[in-house]
Amino acid sequence: MNQNSMDSFYITTPIYYVNAEPHIGHAYTTIVADVIARFYRLSGFDSFFLTGTDEHGNKVVEAAEKSGETVKAYVDRISKTFKETWPKLNIKNDYFVRTTDKNHQDTVSEILSEVYAKGDIYFSEYEGKYCIGCERFYTDTELLQGNCPIHKSEPRLIKEENYFFRMSNYQDWLIDHIDKHPDFIRPERYRNEVIAFLKDPLEDLCISRPKKRLSWGIPLHFDENYVTYVWFDALINYISANGYPEGEQFKKFWPVAQHIIAKDILKPHGIYWPCMLKAAGIEPYQHLNVHGYWNMRTGKMSKSLGNIVQPLDLAAKYGLDAFRYFLLRDMVFGLDSDFSEESLVRRLNADLANDLGNLVSRSMAMTVKYLDGSLFAPGKLEEADIGLREAALKVVEDYKGMMKAFAFNKALIVIWELIGRANKYIDIMKPWVLAKSDRERLGTVLHTITEVIKMVSVLLWPFMPQTAEKIQHQLGLDRSGLELTLDSLKEWGKTKQVRPISKGPALFPRVKVEEGRPAVLSDNVELP
Ligand code: MSP
Repeated sequence: MNQNSMDSFYITTPIYYVNAEPHIGHAYTTIVADVIARFYRLSGFDSFFLTGTDEHGNKVVEAAEKSGETVKAYVDRISKTFKETWPKLNIKNDYFVRTTDKNHQDTVSEILSEVYAKGDIYFSEYEGKYCIGCERFYTDTELLQGNCPIHKSEPRLIKEENYFFRMSNYQDWLIDHIDKHPDFIRPERYRNEVIAFLKDPLEDLCISRPKKRLSWGIPLHFDENYVTYVWFDALINYISANGYPEGEQFKKFWPVAQHIIAKDILKPHGIYWPCMLKAAGIEPYQHLNVHGYWNMRTGKMSKSLGNIVQPLDLAAKYGLDAFRYFLLRDMVFGLDSDFSEESLVRRLNADLANDLGNLVSRSMAMTVKYLDGSLFAPGKLEEADIGLREAALKVVEDYKGMMKAFAFNKALIVIWELIGRANKYIDIMKPWVLAKSDRERLGTVLHTITEVIKMVSVLLWPFMPQTAEKIQHQLGLDRSGLELTLDSLKEWGKTKQVRPISKGPALFPRVKVEEGRPAVLSDNVELP
């Protein structure tokens, strides 16, 4: 297949505000994007993965003032922290966009001009309740006892003249679009939330801020006294970053664009953004994938509550892959989850050290001990071997469907069922007995087990790339990582072994839990 005829896949994360450093919430969304991008690459797709930082607006200016730096120095510093954190979590984004990039600012101006020229932007006076945390106005019905439902603080009453986008013009179109494309916004609970919003008439969107109140923004070319409202600016990153309107990347990837966000920013993505795109004559994105919130026992994670979890600390403490695994296994995509280090450790010990770790270590050890690490062609397959092979092949198919539907926990559950089945197969086949009585049968059993382990390693690669590659290395395969595609798994038993199978150190050393609290593991630090 040549490069141009490859199927394409495009995934984005929100661009994060630079008013705080990356925490576990940002890490979760970005790791999910990495997992799904790796899955599509492994499926043979040409994949583009975008993340970045959102650097304009009031709250960024406030944070810069607090830190005593110039706004420019401040945004450069925090944006760099985000950019440098992702590779340390083995996240391989293809591009990192900043809303202060010249190219992005030019695209925002261009789109604003088009929408203005079309007559969809007008000037008017507005009075409303504005939450700085969300950088948006709230209607009374959206507030909870007068407070912002996310930040729990009272919004400011602001009255000023501004430019407005005729979002109301696109309400009927959007209702119809969601109706015709049931998985435009998923999971369903968030689609329903957007439909509920759309039951009331949509208010036009205020898309400017007077320079006298906020100068840190992209100037409106049709009125120099104003800058662009931060959401109108930020959402455009998804197309400015790949060369809208004429860039090859834009033409190739925009038709298959999928966004990942958490529920906090559903309205801008589920309503403002499709209407903006429609007004600018651009096709809407394909899917908006919405996940829930990680909560701490003390409630929502926030700087003021002092319960921020630093992703790099956890990865350093427990190992990067254990951290990635935990996030994807414990959260049901779409629902909220409680975060605790104790549950991370429980998963690490039970799923990783016991189930997966034991399967790999005892299988490798037996192959080395009984066959000097060299497998030979299997003999006639018996019912138990065929049963395991068929179960494994079915898992590959189920996994593909679950991954495409963002059901990561389910995909991991079916992989772990296979791991459990393989461990049981070993217990029943007793290779240690066969080693004394039936060498040919021993060879067939170990061959079947290593095939299953190879499959497991491929399916795990998007989640735990380092671990998957370590296993593939121990298996002595001629290929590893991205070279071992999902398609290659259809050919049971065809992967070449180019080196003898070898034993490695334990993939996941167990973490001791002392008095209910996990102890620090100093020998488990493994950042790429
Ligand atoms: N800058 C806007 C987004 C503009 S996109 C065009 C913004 N930034 S943010 O820094 O506040 O990031 C919000 C996103 O961070 C959430 O949608 C989610 O992806 C992630 N998370 C932040 N806290 C989170 C949790 N506690 N749990 C899960 N994810 C959360 O909004």
